[in-house]
Amino acid sequence: RPVDVTVVGSTNVDVTATVPRLPGRGETLLGTSLLSSPGGKGANQALAASRGGASVRFVGAVGNDDAAPTALSHLQADGVDLSAVLTREGVPTGTALIWVEDSAENSIVVVPGANGSITAQDVDRVAERGGLEGVVLLQGEIPAEAVTRVAERAPGRVVVNLAPVIEVPPRVLTAADPLIVNEHEGAEALRILGGDPKGASEEEVVVALLAAGVPSVVMTLGARGALVADDSGVRATPAARVRAVDTTGAGDAFVGAAAARLAEGADLGAAASYAARFAAGAVLRAGTQSSYPLRGAELPELIAEGPTC
Ligand code: RIB
Ligand code: NA
Repeated sequence: RPVDVTVVGSTNVDVTATVPRLPGRGETLLGTSLLSSPGGKGANQALAASRGGASVRFVGAVGNDDAAPTALSHLQADGVDLSAVLTREGVPTGTALIWVEDSAENSIVVVPGANGSITAQDVDRVAERGGLEGVVLLQGEIPAEAVTRVAERAPGRVVVNLAPVIEVPPRVLTAADPLIVNEHEGAEALRILGGDPKGASEEEVVVALLAAGVPSVVMTLGARGALVADDSGVRATPAARVRAVDTTGAGDAFVGAAAARLAEGADLGAAASYAARFAAGAVLRAGTQSSYPLRGAELPELIAEGPTC
């Protein structure tokens, strides 16, 4: 089966502790549970695209250590093509230390390890073998030079999720169809493109991104839904009303699920609506990848009203 979605990005082992609240500096606090599970924004998005029905290739790097098979286990079980994953000697597999508070909010420290070793030359080798197939999905958890080279060499549609924000050249953002960002990332993307986000509303930032040459934009607004924008204008798509248990990786669930629909030929609005429902399914359970809805699972419905614009 041809590859619908290729994700070039990070893979981590997420070590998640649930805590009543974050400890203060110098304070020791007792957590209530510990979970070690596959994560990383790239791998999360690859799994979400696969669960969303796409055939997926994941391109990334792991260490030659015990964490590597754990990091890739869900992708492997889901049938994601891992033939282009690099194994590095002398660097550990990426690790994320995550605290989930009783309020379901999370705080994350990522130690990139092997994710930080991906070079533009690595990307060239994948591209030369025809490995950047289908919709190509990028994030900000691998070096900017690798992200940039993928954007330059991908023969088809490129989707960029600027999370976390890294300093990419403007041409990465003007290749993004769509650029998927939250409010903060959208403002930073506009700054990279030479614009001034200061004092601008969410909708104004989205419009300015289009004016600066980004082909299309999805701005996710958490429980308020998302703004979707392309040359047919800006429209709002609502969120689903669910009781969040753990929002870690919900953004990745949204991005991967959206890419799966775009690869099928859905328009941006339809892709964003499906993505919002898929992401809502993921916040109902603890963990990142371990919380993603299974292929064909019933997803929460969207509420009627979205953000006004
Ligand atoms: O977006 C959530 C992800 O961020 C986690 O899986 C963690 O690995 C970090 O990359
Ligand atoms: Na979750």
